[in-house]
Amino acid sequence: MRHFGDTSRVGSVPQWAEALEAADPLDIAAWAVSEFGTQVALACSFGVEDMCLIDMLVRATPAPRVFYLDTGVLFPETYALIDIVKRRYGFVPERRLPALSLARQAEHYGDRLWERDPDACCRMRKVEPLEQMLKGLGAWITGIRRDQTPFRAGAKVVEYDAKFGLVKVNPLVRWTTGQVWRYVRQHRVPYNPLHDRGYPSIGCAPCTKPVRPGDDPRSGRWAHQGKTECGIHPGAAPSL
Ligand code: ADX
Ligand code: SF4
Repeated sequence: MRHFGDTSRVGSVPQWAEALEAADPLDIAAWAVSEFGTQVALACSFGVEDMCLIDMLVRATPAPRVFYLDTGVLFPETYALIDIVKRRYGFVPERRLPALSLARQAEHYGDRLWERDPDACCRMRKVEPLEQMLKGLGAWITGIRRDQTPFRAGAKVVEYDAKFGLVKVNPLVRWTTGQVWRYVRQHRVPYNPLHDRGYPSIGCAPCTKPVRPGDDPRSGRWAHQGKTECGIHPGAAPSL
Protein backbone atom coordinates (compact mmCIF):
# COMPACT_ATOMS: atom_id res chain seq x y z
CA MET A 1 0.00 0.00 0.00
CA ARG A 2 1.43 3.38 -1.00
CA HIS A 3 0.97 6.67 0.81
CA PHE A 4 1.54 9.64 -1.42
CA GLY A 5 -0.37 12.82 -0.60
CA ASP A 6 -1.56 14.28 2.69
CA THR A 7 -3.25 11.35 4.41
CA SER A 8 -3.93 13.09 7.73
CA ARG A 9 -7.67 13.17 7.03
CA VAL A 10 -8.03 9.55 5.92
CA GLY A 11 -9.58 8.63 9.30
CA SER A 12 -12.59 10.79 8.44
CA VAL A 13 -13.40 8.84 5.26
CA PRO A 14 -16.12 6.56 6.74
CA GLN A 15 -17.94 9.54 8.33
CA TRP A 16 -17.72 11.54 5.10
CA ALA A 17 -19.02 8.57 3.11
CA GLU A 18 -22.00 8.16 5.41
CA ALA A 19 -22.80 11.87 5.61
CA LEU A 20 -22.63 12.34 1.83
CA GLU A 21 -24.23 9.08 0.67
CA ALA A 22 -27.57 10.73 -0.13
CA ALA A 23 -26.18 14.16 -1.09
CA ASP A 24 -26.67 15.81 -4.45
CA PRO A 25 -23.61 15.34 -6.71
CA LEU A 26 -23.32 19.12 -7.01
CA ASP A 27 -22.98 19.36 -3.22
CA ILE A 28 -20.49 16.49 -3.15
CA ALA A 29 -18.32 18.21 -5.77
CA ALA A 30 -18.52 21.51 -3.85
CA TRP A 31 -17.69 19.69 -0.61
CA ALA A 32 -14.57 18.11 -2.18
CA VAL A 33 -13.31 21.53 -3.25
CA SER A 34 -13.99 23.12 0.14
CA GLU A 35 -12.44 20.20 2.04
CA PHE A 36 -9.33 19.68 -0.11
CA GLY A 37 -8.85 22.98 -1.97
CA THR A 38 -6.04 22.72 -4.51
CA GLN A 39 -5.21 19.25 -3.17
CA VAL A 40 -8.12 17.71 -5.10
CA ALA A 41 -8.39 17.22 -8.87
CA LEU A 42 -10.87 15.63 -11.26
CA ALA A 43 -9.51 12.76 -13.36
CA CYS A 44 -11.23 13.51 -16.63
CA SER A 45 -11.71 11.22 -19.62
CA PHE A 46 -14.14 13.76 -21.16
CA GLY A 47 -16.84 11.09 -21.15
CA VAL A 48 -20.35 12.29 -20.33
CA GLU A 49 -20.01 11.71 -16.57
CA ASP A 50 -16.82 13.76 -16.42
CA MET A 51 -18.41 16.54 -18.49
CA CYS A 52 -21.14 16.78 -15.82
CA LEU A 53 -18.48 16.90 -13.12
CA ILE A 54 -16.63 19.73 -14.87
CA ASP A 55 -19.90 21.65 -15.05
CA MET A 56 -20.50 21.02 -11.34
CA LEU A 57 -16.96 21.93 -10.29
CA VAL A 58 -16.97 25.29 -12.06
CA ARG A 59 -20.05 26.15 -10.01
CA ALA A 60 -17.92 25.59 -6.89
CA THR A 61 -14.72 27.27 -8.07
CA PRO A 62 -13.77 29.26 -11.18
CA ALA A 63 -10.52 27.35 -11.60
CA PRO A 64 -11.05 23.67 -10.76
CA ARG A 65 -8.12 21.29 -11.04
CA VAL A 66 -8.91 18.92 -13.89
CA PHE A 67 -6.38 16.60 -15.52
CA TYR A 68 -6.48 14.03 -18.29
CA LEU A 69 -4.25 11.10 -19.13
CA ASP A 70 -3.33 11.73 -22.74
CA THR A 71 -2.38 8.32 -24.08
CA GLY A 72 -1.73 9.83 -27.51
CA VAL A 73 -4.46 7.68 -29.05
CA LEU A 74 -7.64 9.32 -27.80
CA PHE A 75 -10.33 9.90 -30.42
CA PRO A 76 -10.13 13.08 -32.53
CA GLU A 77 -13.60 13.89 -31.13
CA THR A 78 -12.18 13.75 -27.60
CA TYR A 79 -9.31 16.11 -28.45
CA ALA A 80 -11.84 18.47 -30.05
CA LEU A 81 -13.97 18.37 -26.90
CA ILE A 82 -10.98 19.47 -24.80
CA ASP A 83 -10.85 22.68 -26.86
CA ILE A 84 -14.58 23.17 -26.35
CA VAL A 85 -14.11 22.79 -22.58
CA LYS A 86 -11.40 25.48 -22.61
CA ARG A 87 -13.67 27.91 -24.44
CA ARG A 88 -16.88 27.15 -22.57
CA TYR A 89 -15.51 26.90 -19.03
CA GLY A 90 -12.46 29.18 -19.25
CA PHE A 91 -9.79 26.95 -17.75
CA VAL A 92 -7.15 24.67 -19.21
CA PRO A 93 -7.31 20.98 -18.24
CA GLU A 94 -3.90 19.64 -17.25
CA ARG A 95 -2.46 17.17 -19.75
CA ARG A 96 -0.53 14.24 -18.28
CA LEU A 97 1.69 12.28 -20.64
CA PRO A 98 3.24 8.81 -20.47
CA ALA A 99 7.02 8.59 -20.01
CA LEU A 100 7.39 7.22 -23.55
CA SER A 101 5.97 8.85 -26.66
CA LEU A 102 4.09 6.48 -28.96
CA ALA A 103 7.12 6.35 -31.25
CA ARG A 104 9.49 5.46 -28.38
CA GLN A 105 7.03 2.87 -27.07
CA ALA A 106 6.95 1.32 -30.56
CA GLU A 107 10.77 1.30 -30.68
CA HIS A 108 11.06 -0.45 -27.32
CA TYR A 109 8.01 -2.74 -27.34
CA GLY A 110 6.92 -2.92 -30.97
CA ASP A 111 4.23 -1.09 -32.90
CA ARG A 112 0.57 -1.22 -31.74
CA LEU A 113 1.38 -2.71 -28.36
CA TRP A 114 -2.33 -2.50 -27.45
CA GLU A 115 -2.98 -5.38 -29.89
CA ARG A 116 -0.43 -7.71 -28.32
CA ASP A 117 -0.21 -6.66 -24.67
CA PRO A 118 -2.95 -4.17 -23.72
CA ASP A 119 -2.18 -4.57 -20.00
CA ALA A 120 1.40 -3.37 -20.55
CA CYS A 121 0.16 -0.54 -22.78
CA CYS A 122 -2.43 0.61 -20.19
CA ARG A 123 0.16 0.40 -17.44
CA MET A 124 2.61 2.66 -19.29
CA ARG A 125 0.12 5.03 -20.90
CA LYS A 126 -2.50 5.36 -18.14
CA VAL A 127 -1.66 3.83 -14.77
CA GLU A 128 1.89 5.10 -14.33
CA PRO A 129 1.09 8.69 -15.39
CA LEU A 130 -1.92 8.59 -13.04
CA GLU A 131 0.30 7.41 -10.21
CA GLN A 132 2.66 10.34 -10.84
CA MET A 133 -0.24 12.80 -10.85
CA LEU A 134 -1.83 11.45 -7.67
CA LYS A 135 1.44 11.67 -5.73
CA GLY A 136 0.87 15.39 -5.30
CA LEU A 137 -2.79 15.21 -4.24
CA GLY A 138 -4.79 14.51 -1.08
CA ALA A 139 -7.88 13.40 -3.03
CA TRP A 140 -9.04 12.70 -6.57
CA ILE A 141 -12.49 12.95 -8.08
CA THR A 142 -13.72 10.38 -10.60
CA GLY A 143 -16.84 9.82 -12.68
CA ILE A 144 -17.40 6.16 -11.80
CA ARG A 145 -20.99 5.00 -11.16
CA ARG A 146 -22.24 1.92 -9.32
CA ASP A 147 -24.24 0.54 -12.21
CA GLN A 148 -21.24 0.46 -14.58
CA THR A 149 -19.60 -2.78 -13.41
CA PRO A 150 -19.94 -5.34 -10.61
CA PHE A 151 -16.73 -3.98 -9.04
CA ARG A 152 -18.00 -0.41 -9.16
CA ALA A 153 -21.28 -1.50 -7.51
CA GLY A 154 -19.41 -1.39 -4.20
CA ALA A 155 -17.96 2.11 -4.70
CA LYS A 156 -18.66 4.75 -2.07
CA VAL A 157 -19.20 8.50 -2.45
CA VAL A 158 -15.97 8.97 -0.52
CA GLU A 159 -13.50 6.13 -0.07
CA TYR A 160 -9.85 5.48 0.64
CA ASP A 161 -8.00 4.46 -2.51
CA ALA A 162 -5.58 1.86 -1.18
CA LYS A 163 -3.85 1.36 -4.53
CA PHE A 164 -2.80 4.99 -4.91
CA GLY A 165 -2.86 6.01 -1.26
CA LEU A 166 -5.27 8.95 -1.18
CA VAL A 167 -8.94 9.82 -0.80
CA LYS A 168 -11.21 9.10 -3.78
CA VAL A 169 -14.43 11.07 -4.29
CA ASN A 170 -17.10 9.66 -6.64
CA PRO A 171 -19.91 12.25 -6.72
CA LEU A 172 -21.98 10.45 -9.39
CA VAL A 173 -21.75 7.03 -7.82
CA ARG A 174 -25.53 6.74 -7.21
CA TRP A 175 -26.61 8.16 -10.55
CA THR A 176 -27.97 6.15 -13.46
CA THR A 177 -27.18 6.92 -17.10
CA GLY A 178 -30.60 8.57 -17.33
CA GLN A 179 -29.79 10.99 -14.51
CA VAL A 180 -26.46 11.87 -16.14
CA TRP A 181 -28.14 12.72 -19.45
CA ARG A 182 -30.89 14.69 -17.68
CA TYR A 183 -28.18 16.89 -16.14
CA VAL A 184 -26.56 17.32 -19.57
CA ARG A 185 -29.83 18.49 -21.09
CA GLN A 186 -30.80 20.72 -18.17
CA HIS A 187 -27.47 22.54 -18.12
CA ARG A 188 -26.62 22.29 -21.80
CA VAL A 189 -23.36 20.53 -21.02
CA PRO A 190 -21.21 19.88 -24.11
CA TYR A 191 -20.44 16.20 -24.73
CA ASN A 192 -18.51 13.91 -27.02
CA PRO A 193 -20.53 13.36 -30.25
CA LEU A 194 -19.40 9.70 -30.25
CA HIS A 195 -21.96 9.10 -27.49
CA ASP A 196 -24.65 9.66 -30.16
CA ARG A 197 -22.95 7.16 -32.49
CA GLY A 198 -23.04 4.01 -30.36
CA TYR A 199 -20.19 4.72 -27.95
CA PRO A 200 -21.65 4.86 -24.39
CA SER A 201 -18.16 4.42 -22.88
CA ILE A 202 -15.18 6.10 -24.55
CA GLY A 203 -11.51 5.32 -24.00
CA CYS A 204 -8.58 5.10 -26.42
CA ALA A 205 -9.49 4.85 -30.11
CA PRO A 206 -7.76 1.49 -30.83
CA CYS A 207 -9.49 -0.17 -27.85
CA THR A 208 -13.03 1.26 -28.04
CA LYS A 209 -15.71 -0.03 -30.39
CA PRO A 210 -19.36 1.01 -30.76
CA VAL A 211 -21.98 -1.23 -29.13
CA ARG A 212 -25.42 -2.33 -30.32
CA PRO A 213 -28.50 -0.90 -28.59
CA GLY A 214 -29.23 -2.96 -25.48
CA ASP A 215 -25.70 -4.35 -25.15
CA ASP A 216 -23.63 -3.77 -22.00
CA PRO A 217 -22.48 -0.15 -22.37
CA ARG A 218 -18.89 -1.17 -21.53
CA SER A 219 -18.81 -4.09 -23.96
CA GLY A 220 -17.11 -1.91 -26.57
CA ARG A 221 -14.09 -1.36 -24.32
CA TRP A 222 -11.22 -3.78 -25.10
CA ALA A 223 -13.74 -5.94 -27.01
CA HIS A 224 -12.03 -9.24 -28.02
CA GLN A 225 -9.00 -8.37 -25.86
CA GLY A 226 -10.19 -10.28 -22.75
CA LYS A 227 -9.91 -7.18 -20.61
CA THR A 228 -12.49 -5.01 -18.81
CA GLU A 229 -10.44 -2.47 -16.84
CA CYS A 230 -7.23 -0.56 -17.47
CA GLY A 231 -6.05 -0.62 -13.87
CA ILE A 232 -6.91 2.89 -12.67
CA HIS A 233 -9.98 1.61 -10.79
CA PRO A 234 -10.31 -1.67 -8.88
CA GLY A 235 -11.47 -4.53 -11.07
CA ALA A 236 -10.25 -7.42 -13.12
CA ALA A 237 -7.00 -5.75 -14.10
CA PRO A 238 -3.36 -6.33 -13.23
CA SER A 239 -1.99 -4.40 -10.27
CA LEU A 240 1.01 -2.10 -10.70
S1 ADX B 1 -11.62 3.01 -17.48
O1 ADX B 1 -10.82 2.63 -16.32
O2 ADX B 1 -12.53 1.96 -17.98
O3 ADX B 1 -10.82 3.63 -18.56
P1 ADX B 1 -13.86 4.76 -17.51
O4 ADX B 1 -13.67 5.10 -18.96
O5 ADX B 1 -15.03 3.92 -17.13
O6 ADX B 1 -12.53 4.14 -16.90
O7 ADX B 1 -13.87 6.11 -16.69
C1 ADX B 1 -14.09 6.09 -15.30
C2 ADX B 1 -13.40 7.27 -14.69
O8 ADX B 1 -11.97 7.08 -14.75
C3 ADX B 1 -13.64 8.57 -15.40
O9 ADX B 1 -14.86 9.16 -14.98
C4 ADX B 1 -12.43 9.37 -14.99
O10 ADX B 1 -12.60 9.87 -13.69
C5 ADX B 1 -11.33 8.32 -14.98
N1 ADX B 1 -10.63 8.25 -16.28
C6 ADX B 1 -10.78 7.33 -17.26
N2 ADX B 1 -9.97 7.59 -18.31
C7 ADX B 1 -9.30 8.71 -17.99
C8 ADX B 1 -8.31 9.51 -18.65
N3 ADX B 1 -7.86 9.21 -19.88
N4 ADX B 1 -7.83 10.60 -18.01
C9 ADX B 1 -8.26 10.91 -16.76
N5 ADX B 1 -9.19 10.21 -16.09
C10 ADX B 1 -9.71 9.12 -16.68
FE1 SF4 C 1 -3.11 1.32 -24.73
FE2 SF4 C 1 -5.62 0.57 -25.37
FE3 SF4 C 1 -4.88 0.88 -22.79
FE4 SF4 C 1 -5.17 2.99 -24.41
S1 SF4 C 1 -6.80 1.57 -23.72
S2 SF4 C 1 -3.52 2.69 -22.97
S3 SF4 C 1 -4.35 2.16 -26.37
S4 SF4 C 1 -4.13 -0.68 -24.27
